[in-house]
Amino acid sequence: MSHIIFKSASKPETGEGIQYHLRIKPGDVSRYVLLPGDPERVKKIASYWDEAWFVASHREYTTYTGKYKGVLISATSTGIGSPSTAIAVEELARVGADTFIRVGTTGSLHKHIGIGDIIISTGAVRLEGTSKQYIIPEYPAVASYEVVLALIEAAETLNVKYHVGLSASTDSFYVGQERPGYRDYMPPFNKGLINFLKQANVLNFEMEASTIFTLSNIYGLRAGMVCAVIANRETEEFVAEAGVDEAIKVANEAVKILSEWDELKRKKNKRYFSISLLIGRDEGK
Ligand code: URA
Repeated sequence: MSHIIFKSASKPETGEGIQYHLRIKPGDVSRYVLLPGDPERVKKIASYWDEAWFVASHREYTTYTGKYKGVLISATSTGIGSPSTAIAVEELARVGADTFIRVGTTGSLHKHIGIGDIIISTGAVRLEGTSKQYIIPEYPAVASYEVVLALIEAAETLNVKYHVGLSASTDSFYVGQERPGYRDYMPPFNKGLINFLKQANVLNFEMEASTIFTLSNIYGLRAGMVCAVIANRETEEFVAEAGVDEAIKVANEAVKILSEWDELKRKKNKRYFSISLLIGRDEGK
């Protein structure tokens, strides 16, 4: 596609609403969108759906939509890192998505969080630059409690080993995660980073969650993250793709659960999900 005319330089979408980077328009995606980094992983995610159709592919962004257990669901790749991820969130929100689940891979900082386990993030340390272009550094990058709860519920249902807690999102896979750079380069300000974060009870390194969480909070959207542990920074193990299928299954199932809870909220005219919506509760007892 060449010479597409967009509405304006500051609003790069076509008259039909096709977004400049993702090449998606309103009606193309579900309100629930899974966000892997890798375009190939979008197809893997969609392979677990009852039906799936290709929506668009442009640069690092591939989008599929389909049905999982009867629920309309989409997946869009973000590419690696926060700048491209922020673009994905921006353009998906513009076409109607309001709930994001990052599905990715991660490096555990703790021995007991082993290769192949999954991590459900409640929030992320903002060790990246993109979210700082949106808001002051003190603004928290927290996940939506509804998405966190749905991911935990999904992991329990599927009997997958999971951990819940804080992540740290960096802009750099190597030096920014205290991996030696080329020729063993390591700036003094990153020496000891792993130990420091471990002491602060941060579970893992990854590269996108804090931006997804920060933008989602700013815009009043919901977001969560489930990642497969492929690296352990204490034991030095590294196994590509370990736990990825489990993380994908948990994310898909969490969408089904969220859709049920959203329907309950709608029926009971509630803005927020609470346990009593599921089990009922005797007032005053
Ligand atoms: N992704 C990361 O960002 N870090 C890791 O160690 C593994 C996956």
